[in-house]
Amino acid sequence: MAFLGTLLETFELIVLSFFYSIEALFRLLVPPRSKSVENETVLITGAGSGIGRLLSLEFARLKATLVLWDINEEGNEETARMSRDQGSPRVHVYKCDCGRKEDVARVAALVKKEVGDVTMLVNNAGIVIGKNFIDTTESEMQKVMDVNIMAHFWTYKAFLPAMIARNHGHLVSIASAAGFLTVNGFADYCSSKFAAVGFAESVALEMIAMKKDGIKTTIVCPSFINTGMFDGYKPQSRMLPMLDAKHVAKKIINAIRRDQPIIMIPRSVYFLVYMKSWMPKKVSILLAHYTRLFDVMKTFVGRKYN
Ligand SMILES: NC(=O)c1ccc[n+]([C@@H]2O[C@H](COP(=O)([O-])OP(=O)(O)OC[C@H]3O[C@@H](n4cnc5c(N)ncnc54)[C@H](O)[C@@H]3O)[C@@H](O)[C@H]2O)c1
Repeated sequence: MAFLGTLLETFELIVLSFFYSIEALFRLLVPPRSKSVENETVLITGAGSGIGRLLSLEFARLKATLVLWDINEEGNEETARMSRDQGSPRVHVYKCDCGRKEDVARVAALVKKEVGDVTMLVNNAGIVIGKNFIDTTESEMQKVMDVNIMAHFWTYKAFLPAMIARNHGHLVSIASAAGFLTVNGFADYCSSKFAAVGFAESVALEMIAMKKDGIKTTIVCPSFINTGMFDGYKPQSRMLPMLDAKHVAKKIINAIRRDQPIIMIPRSVYFLVYMKSWMPKKVSILLAHYTRLFDVMKTFVGRKYN
């Protein structure tokens, strides 16, 4: 009997795997309909500039209620003003240092009291130092980990329970191509982004195991974007160009609205990740030389943080 059960399970696995593969191919040609976010309360961390600001504007156009967090009050207020101009009916602005657990808990409690439950959480706030590991100070490394990954833990702790209770929500992690591919001179940044990908993937599986199919997840892995964060980066290869921030924001919004589990931008990142998974080390080093990855540090300027 046990043998028959295993046989049936294996048969089901083969048939469904085939069906889902065909479905995935079909979805490449005919994408699913984009969901409305009009009745959603979207919290975006790091909304005061760059991708966070552009996502706020996109969500504003789609009439979502916005909750904007940033450590930079001025930038955040400017995003709020621009979002209201785009038509968002409700925009709530909070100063929050996402790298500090107590601050996240305090501001999250305020949001729940003043706005209500967050139904879409976009963990976007991020920083980069861009020094060789041996030259990076302990406090710089700590800050990168606090903002780029620990903040995700604290925000999920604050807002996921209400999503689980209602079986409704969307968790968006703005990670990076550096969550799959490494670059010299960014050891702390790459570590934090690998962690962000691992954390988001694991919680996504947790939702599936808990049968919370109303909670969607999207992991975003772009390469370099012209927001200022990676100022000085000079693309030497078409595989890793400097991406236009508006183009990236549109791609991210489309992926979120189609409940896409992961998006890598540009598509060449999928190729590089695939190649990395099997190619001999010496070949990957050759490729790194070819794409001038070893030279990224030479011109990197980035941002200055307090
Ligand atoms: N720019 C790129 O090339 C690139 C590439 C891949 C992934 N990313 C990721 O995209 C996200 C957004 O990056 P960006 O390019 O828009 O950068 P950005 O510097 O323009 O914006 C980051 C925002 O986060 C805010 N922030 C920083 N520390 C904070 C803290 N402790 N608490 C709250 N807010 C804080 C900043 O004030 C800023 O408004 C980051 O997570 C980044 O790692 C960026």
